[in-house]
Amino acid sequence: MTRMIPKDSAWLERESAASLRRLLPRIEARFAARTEPGDWEAYVERLGRHFPRLFSRLHALYGGNYDFFYHLESILASATQMWLDRPGELKALDAMREVDPRWYQSSRMVGAMCYVDLFAGDLEGVRERIPYLTELGITYLHLMPVFRTPRGDNDGGYAVTSYREVNPDLGTMEDLAQLATELRHHGISLVLDFIFNHTSDEHEWAQRALAGEEPYRDYYRMFPDREMPDAFERSMGEIFPEDHPGAFTYVNRIKKWVWTTFNTFQWDLNYENPEVFNRMLEEMLFLANQGVEILRLDAVAFLWKRLGTDCQNLPEAHWLIQAFNAIVNIVAPAVVFKSEAIVHPDEVSKYVSLEECPLSYNPEFMALLWDALATRDVRVLNHAMRRRFALPEGCAWVNYARCHDDIGWAFSNSDVEAVGFDADEHRRFLTQFFIGRYEGSFGRGQPFQQNPLTGDARVSGTCASLCGLELALEQSVDAEVELAVRRILLMHGLIVAMGGIPLIYLGDEIGTLNDYGYDQDPGKAGDTRWLHRPAFDWARAADRSDAETVVGRIYQGILRLIQLRQQNPAFMRAETDITDTGNPHVFGFFRTHDQHSVFVLANFTEDQQRLEARRLRQMGMRKTMVDLFAGRTLTATQELVMEPYQFMVLARAV
Ligand code: GLC
Repeated sequence: MTRMIPKDSAWLERESAASLRRLLPRIEARFAARTEPGDWEAYVERLGRHFPRLFSRLHALYGGNYDFFYHLESILASATQMWLDRPGELKALDAMREVDPRWYQSSRMVGAMCYVDLFAGDLEGVRERIPYLTELGITYLHLMPVFRTPRGDNDGGYAVTSYREVNPDLGTMEDLAQLATELRHHGISLVLDFIFNHTSDEHEWAQRALAGEEPYRDYYRMFPDREMPDAFERSMGEIFPEDHPGAFTYVNRIKKWVWTTFNTFQWDLNYENPEVFNRMLEEMLFLANQGVEILRLDAVAFLWKRLGTDCQNLPEAHWLIQAFNAIVNIVAPAVVFKSEAIVHPDEVSKYVSLEECPLSYNPEFMALLWDALATRDVRVLNHAMRRRFALPEGCAWVNYARCHDDIGWAFSNSDVEAVGFDADEHRRFLTQFFIGRYEGSFGRGQPFQQNPLTGDARVSGTCASLCGLELALEQSVDAEVELAVRRILLMHGLIVAMGGIPLIYLGDEIGTLNDYGYDQDPGKAGDTRWLHRPAFDWARAADRSDAETVVGRIYQGILRLIQLRQQNPAFMRAETDITDTGNPHVFGFFRTHDQHSVFVLANFTEDQQRLEARRLRQMGMRKTMVDLFAGRTLTATQELVMEPYQFMVLARAV
């Protein structure tokens, strides 16, 4: 099917207004009597506001279908039904967020992520751990997928069998909704994944497709022979090459090749079928109605496929997300999308806008932090962030040192080459460095998804192990332990101080090391990402209040960073002014709000570094400054001396 070429905007406006005029009375007749007139009016007002956007995206995607109007009506009917089902407390939250729509830009926002079972056993366990989260200042909690999945390997929950059922080992959907409420009452927004590129092969739709029900075969992308898969694969890369080469899996029972971008048991949904869009919007709003405030849109780059392309980041993928966004704005305006696009930086930023995803992971910043640690050189980091950090008004990055996934070298070749490195060689060096195969390297990672053809790999490992803590403790060299602790604080200092929302992988704040035991578990063996997903060690966490311990030093350092961010007015707005410090080993940026300004500095080497005082003064600093992180007053007459891996937040002394 060929997509409709978007018509000119005047035509779209007329057509959208005419469609709404026809649709509204029909929707009203079906649903209006089931709610208060005032509420209905407010709903219709929002519908009117966002419908033109919804219409234009759906028209671009499905306008060529002869029954487009029928689909439009059923999409609106589903949305309206989900709005009627939305609990009163969440409608109150909607109203609150409508008057404060940029709530997620507050400097109070600090994110954390975890697996429910590994962090606290089950949902009830997470509830009991709320005090730990509030102690740390967390206001955003991303729970890794909690849904029903196949037993055994299920890609860490990313193969969903039912979006409406919680994995029984973790609790029930009621427990989840209650947890969302309780978190909210403690000032914490619940973040969940919307895994909408694929379902597991055990999902009811997949099962019905397997049983031979034709309409459900159309929910996925299936081919009778290798002709089309071969044609597609000629221009596509491989995502999980170790798991299965290519993007298709032969399913013997139905004698078809099924599109499976990730694992063989994750079937890609077919969004060319408007019915799939309709069904998935119901699943999405169902989650919103449980009290989820931020939806992490999983694997956005892969939503749409077209022959002759790499089947990533196609315009239709953006239209789909924008259509979902318009629906959320109508039905559940408290909900915000965050994009998970781990692709080329030019493409990452295309998902970020108020109309699409106001929030996005910042995979390039993450990768370049590790790059600077390995090279002891901040030039690529500085160059790339100066070019790419700015986002449209109202949007924000989610900055992280690492997450549940591997670390991929998701920077642009041009940014690396601008500094004089060869991009491919540089990526290989970084992988070698962090898997400990480079002389003098402190990293203790493992390769993830090594491509047998190209030798390319990404890296798995916890923040602490990659920062050298594992090696230093093994060698029992105090000076090395000290350097590793400083690296961990430096990484966290930067994600906390940079504009946007910092995201901490729970466990990193207590310096958790790699878990080599994952290989014993048949559901995890072979996927090195489990190396950095250990069970949270509560016995270790008990040391956090003892500043004499390694755990205490890391934890208290991170706590201080968070407090600094939440309390200093300079961090109020997301803008970040990245500067050239004049020293290629020291990364620096300003955060400014009104008359408040701080200068954040990070020394990426194990040596002392010096910054010229004259230059600092040109940047507006004075001779006497306060380092808010260390709580010390400094005087820089000739130069400012930074200790190995020192992280500073400088303010002018009063
Ligand atoms: C995302 C998840 C990753 C998962 C993939 C497929 O990239 O972060 O863990 O394997 O999507 O769902």
